[in-house]
Amino acid sequence: MAVDYNSKPLLKVEGLKQYFPISRTFTVKAVEGVSFEIYPGETYGLVGESGSGKSTIGRSVIRLYDPTDGKIIFDGTDISKKLSRGDTKKLRTQMQMIFQDPMSSLNPRKKVEDIIGEGLDIHKNYKNQAERSEKIKAILKKVGLAPEHASRYPHQFSGGQRQRVGIARALIMNPKLIIADECISALDVSIQAQVVNLMKDIQEETGSAYLFIAHDLSMVKYISDRIGVLHLGHLLETGTTDEIFQNPIHPYTKSLLSAIPEPNPMVEKNRVAESYDYKTSGINYNLGVEHHVSGSHYVKCTDEEFEKWTK
Ligand SMILES: Nc1ncnc2c1ncn2[C@@H]1O[C@H](COP(=O)(O)OP(=O)(O)OP(=O)(O)O)[C@@H](O)[C@H]1O
Ligand SMILES: [Mg+2]
Repeated sequence: MAVDYNSKPLLKVEGLKQYFPISRTFTVKAVEGVSFEIYPGETYGLVGESGSGKSTIGRSVIRLYDPTDGKIIFDGTDISKKLSRGDTKKLRTQMQMIFQDPMSSLNPRKKVEDIIGEGLDIHKNYKNQAERSEKIKAILKKVGLAPEHASRYPHQFSGGQRQRVGIARALIMNPKLIIADECISALDVSIQAQVVNLMKDIQEETGSAYLFIAHDLSMVKYISDRIGVLHLGHLLETGTTDEIFQNPIHPYTKSLLSAIPEPNPMVEKNRVAESYDYKTSGINYNLGVEHHVSGSHYVKCTDEEFEKWTK
């Protein structure tokens, strides 16, 4: 499905800061002024190493945290401040999350039908039990599971199947935005491809947008329309998947790209992994301006750094 970039963004994150006070003198600045947009039906990939703030952004966006600063506009509603009841309902139905480890995020004592049906139950989204059961069966089918799976428990499934249950649980609310936090990282490589393809098919059908969080670029390549690269809470670079892969600007993005193994053994033999050390790079993340290179592709840097990187 082609994304219409002239339409109104579904999600607009502006200058998001998320700090965690640890003690009276120490605060973790997990997210430091991050801005990006996601358009209806679009997949935005968020990558960065462990601790760069990916999950925190996902959790702030779905309002598991109160943002320290910045704005989050979802479908025309500012959800960054105190939420009204109506806004909370909108948020809890139209935005859903899929987690990394389906074993720990699915209640082991509940049958799959009750796990998937929980959102329906909370929001009373059915007239009677028959309709509830129909909705659950339809969603199981959509994620490639069978109707008889409804009465089983999470431990009776494989990892890949459990992740399908997690996807079904998110999908049943017909969300406009799904936040998938490392949702394929724990799966076998062959199963990863299946789940990504399933998510793509579902997007084609439902038009929902994804915030797809992963720690490496190879995972987001096949699903993302645009990608944002995160490092130590800062969004360093964002652009279309092609721009990021063909024309990376920030040295950190280059180092992430150089870490992807090449399928061709001749090329792989000569692949040199570039390293990036922010301490010696001399780049001050707190200074700098946004450079529009082409379209939405920009990096935060000073003119001097920009000259240096683009040489
Ligand atoms: N609730 C919290 N309280 C205090 N510090 C936190 C909290 N949540 C996250 N952090 C810190 O914020 C930073 C970003 O964490 P986050 O989990 O967002 O990273 P991540 O990019 O998702 O990493 P990973 O790839 O390992 O999942 C880390 O330094 C982490 O220790
Ligand atoms: Mg994380």
